[in-house]
Amino acid sequence: MEVFRYVGGKLYCEGVSIEKIAKELGTPFYMYSHSKIEENYRELDAALGRIPHLICYAVKANSNLSILGILKNLGSGFDVLSGGELYKVLKIKADPRKIVFDGVGKTKEEIEYGILNNILMFNVESFSELLILDNIAKKLKKEVPVGIRINFGIDPHSAHRYIDTSKGSKFGLEANEAKKIYLQAKKFKNIKLVGLHSHIGSQILEVKPFEMTFKLIFSFVEELKKQGINLKYIDVGGGLGIPYKENENKFPLKEYARALSLFKNCKVILETGRFIVGNSAILVTKVLYIKNSFGKTFVIVDSGMNDLIRPSLYGAYHRIIPIIKLSNYPIVRSNVVGPVCETGDFFALNRKMPLPKEGDLLAVRDTGAYGFEMSSNYNSHCRIPQILVKGKQFSIIRQREKYADLIKGE
Ligand code: LLP
Repeated sequence: MEVFRYVGGKLYCEGVSIEKIAKELGTPFYMYSHSKIEENYRELDAALGRIPHLICYAVKANSNLSILGILKNLGSGFDVLSGGELYKVLKIKADPRKIVFDGVGKTKEEIEYGILNNILMFNVESFSELLILDNIAKKLKKEVPVGIRINFGIDPHSAHRYIDTSKGSKFGLEANEAKKIYLQAKKFKNIKLVGLHSHIGSQILEVKPFEMTFKLIFSFVEELKKQGINLKYIDVGGGLGIPYKENENKFPLKEYARALSLFKNCKVILETGRFIVGNSAILVTKVLYIKNSFGKTFVIVDSGMNDLIRPSLYGAYHRIIPIIKLSNYPIVRSNVVGPVCETGDFFALNRKMPLPKEGDLLAVRDTGAYGFEMSSNYNSHCRIPQILVKGKQFSIIRQREKYADLIKGE
């Protein structure tokens, strides 16, 4: 269902006029659709059908407590990668038996925090981490369930090298190294090696790289079986992409689920972030000024890389549409830029679009994942509010920061 749609020429999110909210609350802000988040989660869950599975929503995509709450109510588990993320999911009273803890650099304190809360599984990325974990578990008199993250080196064809976690990245262990660990598992008295983890990258739109990885996982698991080691959990990470550009297709969920059906005797864990929340939100911003310089047109808006860094950091493409449908506006190659003192501060470069007027409102689409989450106070800008829409109702699920918030702790 299209939740962001024009009604009488004005953009709505579900049953709420975005122009009205902008008048009431000012700009910029993030606006999320409750029903879109539910729809995406349910679509994924249904596609997996009878494959024994647990979706552990990747908190790093968007950790707003209200959004975590929606997912908890849908039955989702959580993938956390820091003590802070664990703190947030415990705050919403998530079931610890549905929490996995990832990350290449967990501190002793974070490991202890996870152990004390009896989470489902730690995914370990180095031998040294495993030793530390075993030691802490011993001190706490616990037996801790662990998976090893394996980097099979498959090229995920993701959108940018910064979100490719395969060969040559810092993530996981090579398969032969991991195998040595599984084979000496009995040495670690306070660890139960119950799982295998392999996240290959993010914003992947084809099934092929997943399929290749699943086959490698499958033969790895079969070999372990021959050695008498039976794993309970296969954690295949996240990475399911969404169409950001007009010409991109939806992620082929059915094919993905078919590839996953290899794992009949284990429980499959998915750490999906972007697919669940990515297209559930827009960033609403106002055009402050329009100017031309050295033959280029600049549309200067009131939001920038401090609120949404994806275009600057990864050259990511986000559709930009008007809140009030424009007619008879000239189509001009424009640069949509923010107020930050960086040339790299932009939402779109050299993009053919109807040239808005000063004061017009624009929506930057598909900003529900890694949008607010990666925002900062750079240039001492206040962080912007997050608004959640449900039907005809909206609520502020995070307040706009005030100047006083900028000096907290200084
Ligand atoms: N599991 C692990 C171990 C991960 O590293 C990630 C993402 C996920 C799950 C969730 O991936 P997803 O389903 O959302 O693709 N900031 C970048 C994306 C970084 C992804 C980092 N890891 C962006 O804005 O595109």
